Amino acid sequence: MKRIIIAIDGYSSSGKSTMARQLASRIGYRYIDSGAMYRAVTLYAIEHGMITDAGVADVAAIEKELPGLAIDFAVQPDGSQHTLLCGRDVETEIRQLYVSNHVSTIAAIPAVRHALVKMQQKLGEGKGIVMDGRDIGTTVFPDAELKIFVDASAQTRAQRRFSELMSKGDAVTYEEVLANVVHRDHIDETRAESPLRRADDAVSLDNSTMTKEEQDAWLLEQYNRVANV
Ligand code: DC
Repeated sequence: MKRIIIAIDGYSSSGKSTMARQLASRIGYRYIDSGAMYRAVTLYAIEHGMITDAGVADVAAIEKELPGLAIDFAVQPDGSQHTLLCGRDVETEIRQLYVSNHVSTIAAIPAVRHALVKMQQKLGEGKGIVMDGRDIGTTVFPDAELKIFVDASAQTRAQRRFSELMSKGDAVTYEEVLANVVHRDHIDETRAESPLRRADDAVSLDNSTMTKEEQDAWLLEQYNRVANV
């Protein structure tokens, strides 16, 4: 089997992280959640007063701090990964709605994107990696051997995210979550710096009506098609 890079891009809450993580574990690859890296920088900006509640970011201050921001992943005993920001486990914080509400603004800052893309490219140097995000197949790894673009309606994605947050005990409404999904789609698609778009050579997957098992089998088939040569 050839060792390859697998880029999985798509809209927020399209289920791409879960499928990317499971594929990586099944084929013995490293999984990197690039969205978690943007979330970690966002948390840092919030905690250091570099973004207002209204979403106005102090770009110069954030840019200055970027070289010192170490972002890493720690594998847990159950195989899951936790995001570390300068050595601190921030996995719970970065998934909260107050971070989600600001992450697209932070991810639209060119200096943030440049710094994180560089880190991501370094992580992929040895191949054998599954990375999910918005610009992995277009900007981070334009030469990735396998590119998947995941799509699903905003309503389906909001319902998934709402159920996930409810199961964690978060007091949010479906309407709030849907508004956040639609808002993030808009910012992700219209930002000047590497906007979310399907790479020309990506394989599309609309998983709105697929079961998890169907999705996993489809993904494995794509991997075998490309790596088994
Ligand atoms: O996948 P996610 O919802 O955790 O991503 C969080 C945010 O980060 C999302 O609003 C878009 C941004 N993002 C990005 O711009 N580029 C990536 N490669 C990954 C995420």
